[in-house]
Order: sequence, then C-alpha cells, then structure tokens
Amino acid sequence: MTARIDWVRDSCRLLSGISAEFARTRPFDGLTIGTGIHLEPKTVALILTLASGGARMISTGNLSSTQAETVGYLRHRCVQVIGETTTDRARHAADLREVIGEKPGLLLDNGGDLFLGYLSDPYPGLLGGTEETTSGRTRLRPLAGRLDVPVLVINDSPIKQFAENRHAVGLSVLESYLRITNRMTNGRRAVVFGYGACGKGIAAAFRSAHALVAVIETDPVARLEACLDGFDVPARDDALREADIVITATGADAVVRGADLAVLRDDVVLCNAGHFPVEIAVDELESSPLTRRREAAADGIATLLLDDGRRVHLLAGGHMVNLAGPRPLGNSIESMDLGFALQARCLEAIANGSVGAGQVVVAVPRFIDERVARAFLDAYGTSVTRPADA
Ligand SMILES: NC(=O)c1ccc[n+]([C@@H]2O[C@H](COP(=O)([O-])OP(=O)(O)OC[C@H]3O[C@@H](n4cnc5c(N)ncnc54)[C@H](O)[C@@H]3O)[C@@H](O)[C@H]2O)c1
Repeated sequence: MTARIDWVRDSCRLLSGISAEFARTRPFDGLTIGTGIHLEPKTVALILTLASGGARMISTGNLSSTQAETVGYLRHRCVQVIGETTTDRARHAADLREVIGEKPGLLLDNGGDLFLGYLSDPYPGLLGGTEETTSGRTRLRPLAGRLDVPVLVINDSPIKQFAENRHAVGLSVLESYLRITNRMTNGRRAVVFGYGACGKGIAAAFRSAHALVAVIETDPVARLEACLDGFDVPARDDALREADIVITATGADAVVRGADLAVLRDDVVLCNAGHFPVEIAVDELESSPLTRRREAAADGIATLLLDDGRRVHLLAGGHMVNLAGPRPLGNSIESMDLGFALQARCLEAIANGSVGAGQVVVAVPRFIDERVARAFLDAYGTSVTRPADA
C-alpha cells in the first residue's frame, strides 16, 4: 500500500510542483489547516503539499471511506489524523468536532461538515477555507451570511466539473461496478438518476460499455439535455421496472426508496455515486414489509431477499461506490491532481489575502482556474513540441 501511495504521489505532477514551490514560499507558516476529506492515497498528496507550505495539518476522513493504510502513512509523516475508518455517524461526528476543537485557521471541507461544526462552535481566527463538493455547497450556501469569511467551492470550478465530475466519476463508477460485480454491462438496462456533471459522465461511461442507458431527472431542462444526448428519458417507475442496474448521482435524499421494491425486477443491482449514503434509502429497503432478509452475497455486495423470491443487490452499502467498495481506486489520479491543485491555490489565496472576505460560498476565482489549467497543460506535456524536421 505504501508503494501505491508513493505511486499516486509521484503521479500528481501539479501537486509535486506546488509542493516544491510551497517549500520555498511557506504560505501557511504558523497556520493550522483542518481537513475533513476522504483519507485515501490521492488526498495524501494534497495534505502533504499543504504541510510543505508550513501548515500544521489536522485531518479526519469522511464517513466510511477512510483507508487504514492512508492513515498510517500520514501519521508516519507527522500529520495529526483524528479517528479511523468508521461507518458510525456518531463516531464520525465526534472526529469532526475534534478537528474543529483545534481551532484551525483554514478549513478544507468535503460535504460541509466542518463549516457546520464551526458555526455551532465558532472561534476567533478562522480565515476561511474551501468546500470540495456539490452536496457541501448546497448545505453551506444558505448559511453564507453567518460564515463571514471566504469559502471557495472547488466543485463550482469548470475544471472540477468537467475533469472530475464528468470524465473521471463516470469512468470510476463503471470501473467499480465491473470490479465489484464482475458482471457484463452489454445489453443491460442501466438507469442513472441525475443528469448533472456526474450523471452525464456515468451515463456516457455505461453507454460506452454497451449498456442501454436511461436517465431520470427532476429538472426538465437537464432531462431535455439527456434526451438530446441520445438517452432514453422514460417515466421513473417504468425505468425502474426495466432496470438491471440503478445508479444514483443527485446529491438528494431517498431517490430510491422502500416503495420502489414493488416494481424492481429480480437480480437488479443498486449503487450510489452521490456524496452522502442517503440517495438509496437503505433503511427503508431493509425494513420494507416486502423484504424477508438481507444476506452478504460477496465482498461489497449485500442482497435483499424479497418475500416473492426476487433479489435486490446493493453495492457498498449505498455509500459512494467508487470510494467505499472493496479495493477502491476512486477517480483518476490526474483528475484529482487538478482538483487538488485548485484546493492548494485557493487555500494559498485565502491565506495571503488575495481573496476578499465577501467571497463566501462562491466558485473558485477565474485567475486560479486559469493558472491551474495552464500548469496542467504544461506539466502533462499536452502541448507537443515537434522536432524541426517533422
Ligand atoms: N463519487 C464521486 O467520486 C463524486 C465526485 C464528485 C461529486 N460527487 C457527488 O455526486 C452527486 C452529484 O454531483 P453533480 O456534480 O452531478 O451534481 P449536480 O447538482 O450537477 O447534478 C445533480 C442532478 O440531479 C438532479 N436531481 C436531484 N434530485 C433528483 C431526483 N430525486 N431524481 C432525479 N434527479 C434528481 C438535479 O436536477 C441535478 O440535475 C453529489 O452528491 C456530489 O457531491 C461524487
């Protein structure tokens, strides 16, 4: 595992460059940065980049996605990591509180939990921070008036939208489905809930794997886009009745619920790509009067046996299938290198005061997007210099 983390770190060309620069410029000298983000190999590269800029790092993970080897790797490099892998919400909440208890000057949040923790127990000296996700932005935006410090939403950078949410999530959800189930997608009916950036990537990836893809969207404009992109957009229950694979990517609660057991076909596979494990209402499915019992079918697969003999399979317990299942790889290293370069540059800008206090729960400033885009094109050699005689 250490070798894999080293592989990931070595592959993050943007973060490697920023890390070397931060070691000279020390933008975070004297500051503590609190992070509440998935503790997996790619975040190691980000956390150690921030540490190389002089920050004292205090980190905890997200519910269910913390990888023990990552925690060990960070602790071995003097990063203070709070907690271990857990699916226990109360335990996770206590870990987040412990991070806030250290009164970090900057917060790097993933889902809004740290900023909500700060609001319920505010302290002086918070300069601001970043929020990684759509789900976190949705929770924090109504609270912007109370936050009063710059909070930059990485998710709302166009770079994050197309590089990670669209291109990388689609491929990693497909890769996770294949790895966990070891089943073919060809000719199977896949239903994707949500046609935001993630849903677009997932729908496209499953189509490229020869599945027959339908999209369910509550927003008629996004539904129209899915239709014009060539996807079926049937009525919700009709789609579920035919589905072999159901994937949620909405950021919303209880998108697939207990009542849907009445229409799901035998042997259907359900999985979630959204940030929180709430899109598939697992409790409702398990406690439905139609459900006889739950069995573990294989690593990462639970099967609900229904009274009439139908089987409904759930991947990764309804947690993010590309990060919480067995042997998860998550999104591609390059896509995360881009997103984390945005993180590092945003935190640097807040620390040095080049982002104003009025920028509360707003997108990444354009100057940072442009800087990171140029750096990627340079670092990954996408501009090829041809030899003179070519
Ligand atoms: N798994 C990963 O690696 C990963 C990476 C990035 C983001 N995410 C998460 O994926 C989720 C989606 O992100 P996004 O950037 O695509 O969000 P988005 O806001 O761009 O799109 C969500 C779409 O879902 C639709 N929707 C909402 N409720 C619905 C419902 N009940 N049924 C059908 N459609 C519904 C919305 O209209 C919207 O078009 C978020 O929770 C985000 O945090 C996961």
